[in-house]
Amino acid sequence: MLFSEACERNKQPIAQALEGWLPRPARVFEVGSGSGQHAVHFTRQRDRLHWHPSERPGQLAGLQERIDREGRGALAPGSALADAVALDVTTGPWPPGPFDAVFTANTAHIMPASAVPDLVAGAAALLGPGGLLLLYGPFSDGGRHTAPSNAAFDAHLRSIDPTMGVRDADWIIALARRHGMQPRADQAMPANNRLLVFAANGDTSGNSDTSGSGDANCSAAVSGGRASSRGRSTNRR
Ligand SMILES: C[S@@+](CC[C@H](N)C(=O)[O-])C[C@H]1O[C@@H](n2cnc3c(N)ncnc32)[C@H](O)[C@@H]1O
Repeated sequence: MLFSEACERNKQPIAQALEGWLPRPARVFEVGSGSGQHAVHFTRQRDRLHWHPSERPGQLAGLQERIDREGRGALAPGSALADAVALDVTTGPWPPGPFDAVFTANTAHIMPASAVPDLVAGAAALLGPGGLLLLYGPFSDGGRHTAPSNAAFDAHLRSIDPTMGVRDADWIIALARRHGMQPRADQAMPANNRLLVFAANGDTSGNSDTSGSGDANCSAAVSGGRASSRGRSTNRR
């Protein structure tokens, strides 16, 4: 079964961060679920959470294995973990919406830069008014890395595949705005990761936390990312 050490470390901080954003009940679609550790943890922790994981077709079996083993019992009251669906953001098919939120962790720096606009556009199309896009991972700011380890991680990724790399938060924000989503938060997370939060038009929360910093931390499932599919892991911690 796929396993990510980084997922084990970051799953609770992410769960705590999501707690402040998701409604009850919440119907959430996840892009690039990897090992499924996040999906299982979140649905065990939080009540009335309906989590819909997805992965690229070639990575789907490992994800479904965890869902079958760990996602059928011991979930929080009223929560549910759906079977994984195949999704490559560049080709679809995206599922029918609307969802209350789209979540994705550590995917924007692994998928080619050319696929990131597809990720944002596809997510935007899944959200109803006020729905949230939540992106977790390392991000740079205005072309500058926010920590030396982010710079090193970015260089590492690009040495493996020049289409990978830590993305700039400003670029993500511009893409989100292009698709009718407004930035709502830039939340600092452990190991200099961040949770970028965007709301589809119609949001009235007014939450506009803009603190945060970025660092390198790909929590790639061992065989889940482009890098590892080429025989090199992008895990760092
Ligand atoms: C570093 S892993 C992160 C997995 C998991 N979300 C986590 O945080 O541990 C990157 C993930 O992005 C997914 N990914 C890469 N390109 C993708 C694409 N074009 N469409 C959808 N997912 C993609 C990979 O399959 C992989 O599972």
